[in-house]
Amino acid sequence: MLNRMYDWIDERLDITPIWRDIADHEVPEHVNPAHHFSAFVYCFGGLTFFVTVIQILSGMFLTMYYVPDIKNAWESVYYLQNEVAFGQIVRGMHHWGASVVIVMMFLHTLRVFFQGAYKKPRELNWVVGVLIFFVMLALGLTGYLLPWDMKALFATKVTLDIVESLPFIGVPMKTLLAGDPTIVGAQTLTRFFAIHVFFLPAALLALMGVHFVLIRRQGISGPL
Ligand code: HEM
Repeated sequence: MLNRMYDWIDERLDITPIWRDIADHEVPEHVNPAHHFSAFVYCFGGLTFFVTVIQILSGMFLTMYYVPDIKNAWESVYYLQNEVAFGQIVRGMHHWGASVVIVMMFLHTLRVFFQGAYKKPRELNWVVGVLIFFVMLALGLTGYLLPWDMKALFATKVTLDIVESLPFIGVPMKTLLAGDPTIVGAQTLTRFFAIHVFFLPAALLALMGVHFVLIRRQGISGPL
């Protein structure tokens, strides 16, 4: 049945070469830990991707219960955590995943840095990586406010004070992010929510797409 469906689609769209190109791509020996144990350092990019997928999936389920307004945000999280089936697990995955993904990305960046993998011809992919790095940090920052508890509120106040202290662009940037230059309030929550679930994930997916296309075109660096 599945075979026939596959053949039906393949006859019309010629999809076999597409997945063969991905699946049959040979991995060079120097990145295979079975040959050289130290090659495990190459796994961190893939692990970052894996945790990112978990973040996106768990985040999608969280939005089915989360209510982005100051009257209901905290209680919607409380309800999700305590009443919804598997809610605690899904929230826990997103909560801990947010830290794990930063750690993995950092280890990946260290690997690229200390092996000099950012050098010619991979300079552009390093720059793409730096952009990804900032998008990831911003995801952590904006997500932190969403539970709307005391910790979220005061952490965000500190963040916005730091933004405000930037020369020239500080005040307008804070107003843009917070919606209100004086307090972390209703506008701030809806803006952070929109940035956290729409703007940044869209930017992240686009950047990761470019990152992977470049890796495929240039091949993996090394051996040292
Ligand atoms: C969402 C975050 C990221 C993901 C999912 C990701 C994924 C990957 C993967 C799967 C590879 C293949 C080799 C490997 O796994 O080590 C790679 C290579 C690379 N990454 Fe990333 N990466 C991310 C962030 C970054 C950051 C923050 C930087 C640097 C600032 C960076 C710079 C590079 C460079 C230069 C390469 C090519 C390395 C080589 O050819 O040896 N990446 N990335």
